[in-house]
Amino acid sequence: MFSLKRFCTNATRVGCLNFSSAVEKPKTAVLMLNMGGPQSIDQVHDYLLRIMTDRDMIQLPVQSKLGPWIAQRRTPDVQKKYTQIGGGSPILKWTKLQGGLMCKELDKMSPETAPHKHYVGFRYVNPLTENTLQEIERDGPERVVLFSQYPQYSCATSGSSFNSIFHHYRENTFPKNIKWSVIDRWATHPLLIKTFADRIREELSKFVETKRDNVVILFTAHSLPLKAVNRGDSYPSEIGATVHLVMQELGKTNPYSLAWQSKVGPLPWLAPATDDAIKGYVRQGLKNFILVPIAFVNEHIETLHELDIEYCDELAKEVGVEEMRRAAAPNDHPLFIKALSSIVADHLKSKEPINSKFLMRCPMCVNSRCRDSKRWYRQVCTL
Ligand code: FES
Repeated sequence: MFSLKRFCTNATRVGCLNFSSAVEKPKTAVLMLNMGGPQSIDQVHDYLLRIMTDRDMIQLPVQSKLGPWIAQRRTPDVQKKYTQIGGGSPILKWTKLQGGLMCKELDKMSPETAPHKHYVGFRYVNPLTENTLQEIERDGPERVVLFSQYPQYSCATSGSSFNSIFHHYRENTFPKNIKWSVIDRWATHPLLIKTFADRIREELSKFVETKRDNVVILFTAHSLPLKAVNRGDSYPSEIGATVHLVMQELGKTNPYSLAWQSKVGPLPWLAPATDDAIKGYVRQGLKNFILVPIAFVNEHIETLHELDIEYCDELAKEVGVEEMRRAAAPNDHPLFIKALSSIVADHLKSKEPINSKFLMRCPMCVNSRCRDSKRWYRQVCTL
């Protein structure tokens, strides 16, 4: 059930591959944006500190004091979790592998914009987005595609990354000789949907035939404070859209539901929590599950620790689950690599440097960073 082996095997394998230096002088740079994860235990504190002081991600009273205090307090616990999954997050290794494979495909699919080179821009840990932007400028491509690696858009995740790029160029000279464009969301892309469906089929086939049709497919996504939901953040509806299409792709073969994981702090967040949903279904007599992380495109602490160790192993034993498996994240699934390259290739061919939805703020947004950032993107993005 618990798949530490899956992490170790894959992490070792991807560690051997390095596509990042394949192209010195790209025509097109693809900057893959994500939150990132500490690669070693000693990076945990700074990683938490950056999260806790990011007002797009989380809003705390007297954040400049409370944020560092919470980061300090949580560090030992979070370090323990990273130790249990092998000493660090595999997110950088996966992103580099995905980027290298994506650009290889892109060179074939879109020779007119080749050579393509991927770059990684993390929000909270190296390689930090602001440093990668400098690296891109040194390489001097004709165009840069800012590609969010969160399929479903939230102002707390993708929005925070885009706001940080705006912030960086408010303080540094913007390279006007480069064309910039944005891929902000791709929750319903057909190849993403097929990838998730295939990951679920892989796990369903491991259940004995007599149980298979009754296995509960429990989709799970990172939760969000209700305050953000009530501002009009599009994340919950985009997660719902992905879930709906994945079940359609599977032919609605099994009972399914959606729950929310990884809540922190005492304020109300989207519910039910994934562990509560498991307990609730067990009480209703359902005993077999597949957990499907529907908002993560690669393994990281929330899949490898929270889902694999805390739920598939510990909670499953505690509440009397018969069998609980976890669908792998998209990682290097060939359909997922095709999804990434198709999304970028279609974007490069399109006449839309930026999605009109991205330029809209949440209806109840009062954040001046969002206002200024969206104005700026409207001005600087061209194809
Ligand atoms: Fe969503 Fe500002 S909080 S656009």
